[in-house]
Amino acid sequence: MIVARSLNELAVPRHGVVGLVPTMGSLHAGHTALFAAARAECDLVVASLFVNPAQFGDAADLAAYPRDFEQDAETARTHGVDLLFAPTAAELYPPGFATWVVPEGAAEGLESLHRPGHFQGVATVCLKLFNLVRPQFAWFGRKDAQQVAVLKQMVRDLNLDVEIRVVDTVRDEDGLALSSRNGRLTATEREQARAIPRALATGDPEQARAILTAAAIEPDYVTVADLDGPTLAIAARFGSTRLIDNVLLKGSL
Ligand code: PAF
Repeated sequence: MIVARSLNELAVPRHGVVGLVPTMGSLHAGHTALFAAARAECDLVVASLFVNPAQFGDAADLAAYPRDFEQDAETARTHGVDLLFAPTAAELYPPGFATWVVPEGAAEGLESLHRPGHFQGVATVCLKLFNLVRPQFAWFGRKDAQQVAVLKQMVRDLNLDVEIRVVDTVRDEDGLALSSRNGRLTATEREQARAIPRALATGDPEQARAILTAAAIEPDYVTVADLDGPTLAIAARFGSTRLIDNVLLKGSL
């Protein structure tokens, strides 16, 4: 696996099918499922590892985000990544950086109400990564369903020459969706958070709310939205850790 830690070092061979898996590191089985999906379809699998400051509203959340480059590089290397691109924030956002993608539509409501500016940061960094790597396909996890909807909208609206591929959420044995943030939960919070997959399994916002209430969880939202298909989505805080999760509903909205 080639590691490129700067824009100068990034040289993407232009033959064959190139796939990109954008990540913020802290890689887990949700990410390795994305690598496997990319590996199955591409000649060259590029993963980016960049904790994007532009998508964090809260400096404490950015500072607390887990970072272990050596461990992540080893995970990427052993799961089929050919090229790991890990630039610095100073290079992606140099002094004077002043051009942003400001998504509307799919970016409105849900996460945006609780994380203002989040999707501006996500869309901007993904557009930069698409321009730098120029992949034919880019892979994202369904757990971040609104992010997927925002990125598909950006690709459509800006006529980008990349296709977004989506991989199902990977869950722990207790049903909790894998997330880099799970490691920050206390044992009690983790026990409480198990109510989220149980609530989603009802497929119904009222029943989901009742399950969360019974577990003493006051969610940021429990709602059905069209996120690349009718989706029951939940976000809730457990101490300083905020988790999101969703299920695609079979019926129509
Ligand atoms: O889902 C993530 O990890 C991030 O939002 C992404 C897509 C890598 C952009 O920073």
